[in-house]
Amino acid sequence: MSQDTPNTANNWKIENDDNNISWLHFDTADASANLLSQAAIKELDDILKELEKSPPRALIILSDKKDSFIFGADIKEFTALETKEQALEFMHRGHALMNRLEAMPCPTVSMVHGLCFGGGTELSLACNYIVASDDKKTKIGLPEIKLGIHPGYGGTARSIERCGPLAAMNIMLTGRALTARAAKKIRLIDEMVPLRQLKAAAESYALTAPERKTLPLLTRITNYSLVRPLIASQMRKQVAAKAKPEHYPAPYSLIKLWQDHAGNKKKMLEKEAIAVAELATSDTAKNLVRVFFLQENLKSQGKKVNFDVEHVHVIGGGIMGGDIASWCAIQGYSVTVQDQDPQRLSQTFKRAQYSFKKKFKRDRRAIRDANDRLMPDHRGSGIFRADIVIEAIFEDVEVKRALYESIEPKMKADAILATNTSSIKLEDLSSCLKNPGRLVGLHFFNPVALMPLVEIIRGNESDEKVVQQALAFGKNIGKLPLAVKSSPGFLVNRILMPYILEAVSMVDEGIPPEVIDKAATDYGMPMGPIELADTVGLDICKSVANILSTALAMPLPDYLKDLSDKKLGKKTGEGFYQYKGNKAIKNKNASYPDTQEVQDRLVMRLLNEATACLREGLVENKDMIDAGVIFGTGFAPFRGGPLEYIKTQGVDKLSQTLETLKAKFGGRFEKDEGWTKI
Ligand code: NAI
Repeated sequence: MSQDTPNTANNWKIENDDNNISWLHFDTADASANLLSQAAIKELDDILKELEKSPPRALIILSDKKDSFIFGADIKEFTALETKEQALEFMHRGHALMNRLEAMPCPTVSMVHGLCFGGGTELSLACNYIVASDDKKTKIGLPEIKLGIHPGYGGTARSIERCGPLAAMNIMLTGRALTARAAKKIRLIDEMVPLRQLKAAAESYALTAPERKTLPLLTRITNYSLVRPLIASQMRKQVAAKAKPEHYPAPYSLIKLWQDHAGNKKKMLEKEAIAVAELATSDTAKNLVRVFFLQENLKSQGKKVNFDVEHVHVIGGGIMGGDIASWCAIQGYSVTVQDQDPQRLSQTFKRAQYSFKKKFKRDRRAIRDANDRLMPDHRGSGIFRADIVIEAIFEDVEVKRALYESIEPKMKADAILATNTSSIKLEDLSSCLKNPGRLVGLHFFNPVALMPLVEIIRGNESDEKVVQQALAFGKNIGKLPLAVKSSPGFLVNRILMPYILEAVSMVDEGIPPEVIDKAATDYGMPMGPIELADTVGLDICKSVANILSTALAMPLPDYLKDLSDKKLGKKTGEGFYQYKGNKAIKNKNASYPDTQEVQDRLVMRLLNEATACLREGLVENKDMIDAGVIFGTGFAPFRGGPLEYIKTQGVDKLSQTLETLKAKFGGRFEKDEGWTKI
């Protein structure tokens, strides 16, 4: 290969080979991944302009980064867009590049290995052919919807052109990443080959430029103008089950774009840019981008130290311990799990089978390997070799202390001890240890496999190194770790509990649970507080509420005081609701005259407690409170978190709401001094 073009550029480099194929290497300087930034777009546009003058025989686009192709557009540049006009100009620059690439007078091939998302996929779609490696690391997708927009560099029209509307709209509406195999199946890519053959495959497409097959008639029919309204209405229904248009406008905008303009590619591209310019400057997109960065921030908390764990030992094979053990095995760790009750252990393994199958689907080898990594250990012999011992036994100080005294002498000198306690002060537990600094809280949420957050509790005695190691472990097992000071309820339960207690008080007052839950989901919560309490278990809610009511003077509502053992929520088939096949039976006709007040009561209790946590400095900064509440409770992500919500709504306006509620319902709506810190 000869190097023909002087490579002064920061992102792209051209090599011409003996067949007169131009290999266009994307390799942003000083970055671990390629982003289709404005600078990269401009450079590529200039290169294509030059190539147009004397076209090569073919053009192949590839990445020089290890295991990643193009991550997408530079999201940071998005956050700088203030007006629709700026956003539209931004979109037009991307469009101009993609149109130029699509119109190149020679065959163009995108050669994908590793992660290829958003703008990277759109760039590939503007090429004649896409070939990808079948490697596990190759993932292709259009995840823009997760950031409150939809593809905006021509990806809407071009993905539909390639795959047909049903498959293309499905990947755009869900934002899911596809393996190369799945991408090939829906025709998003032309070829999937082992990595070692990728170059040859790209070359072959470049040299032979085969005719692309047209889509089957049935697929083409779904794009006809007569059929589109019907399909679009089905799509809207499916989206509505998950997201309301006033909260998440992007999927609705995408469906409308397709329904109105699918027959005319030029028009669709033009309208795509306008639609995305509008979405990109909306509050929803700004907040979802914020949530993306909060997530990155949490991940980075776990990157400060290296903590190589070869073996994990979990004590307690109950709901939490069992699920923590199988989660760690799924993540590739060797795990022993110990329980005093052998029957609980056999249940743990039954549940683990279910988790493995759910995670690995039909990949039998992966399921077998996970099974091999998870070992029952009734006698606790795994303690001797564990780098981390996770305790998840009964929530009882004396029982936990007795266990710690017996296991500490068996633990490796530098192994850390992590407790999953949800309410016991770490200091009450660590005082029985010879080395109290090795104890840290590792507070998982139920269900472990679904909840992304893990609170890392820093006790007064915890060694800083141990806290950092626990953060690293949290990140390494694929969770979002958040360091929290040891204090009743830690962060998430502390903020959630006043909101749940307010909901239960409303039930005491006779307001139907259905009305209360709807007020919360209308605000954007994934599940109402009453159904959430039933799901967690009313006994567990009561025990956390008891701890907080002592520490923070929150009286317990009557419903929880007089709890019946037979009505503990979903697990007993009845709580506030009755359950049929795991689903709450709700009265659709339930009503109440002032639903706004119901919503205000719920939301203001949550916001007020969030400001109290800010005042007490439970976490490092404001953003970490928002991150904890979003990833620990599912708090409406499009609102950017409770403190961000206060900021956007305005402290004065919300203070008035608090005043009104205080006048009617009393001191629990007293404004916390933390509001002054926002
Ligand atoms: P669980 O009652 O389901 O399981 C506890 C297990 O520990 C039982 O299988 C029991 O046989 C075993 N055990 C008790 N003492 C033992 C000992 N000395 N040695 C070995 N095994 C022993 O309890 P769950 O719900 O799993 O809770 C465990 C811990 O996790 C508690 O500290 C709880 O506060 C905390 N937690 C619970 C959450 C939940 O939603 N259930 C959420 C977050 C934390």
